[in-house]
Amino acid sequence: MVFRTKSGQVTALEDCCAHRYTPLSKGTICQDQLEYSYQRWQYGTDGRVSSVSTLPANCAIPENLRIKSFQGLEQDDVCLKYLPQKAHSTSYF
Ligand code: FES
Repeated sequence: MVFRTKSGQVTALEDCCAHRYTPLSKGTICQDQLEYSYQRWQYGTDGRVSSVSTLPANCAIPENLRIKSFQGLEQDDVCLKYLPQKAHSTSYF
């Protein structure tokens, strides 16, 4: 899913909550974080889980708890996900 944060950054995240693989596109943008409404996990623009509402305050969120993130861009008032093309490779056999 592609979205613009309150600060204006365009970003794209995989449309899949790391908790139960539900569509994050049903979530909302909250304080420059994407928040999924079911159990309110929040994601930063880098795809990392930044908040888990049910986790005690003294528990750290593992660094690798994340979803894929992509570069976002805006053109003609449309927010897009940038997918670089793979470099051409030459096969010699
Ligand atoms: S399914 Fe996403 S927070 Fe639980």
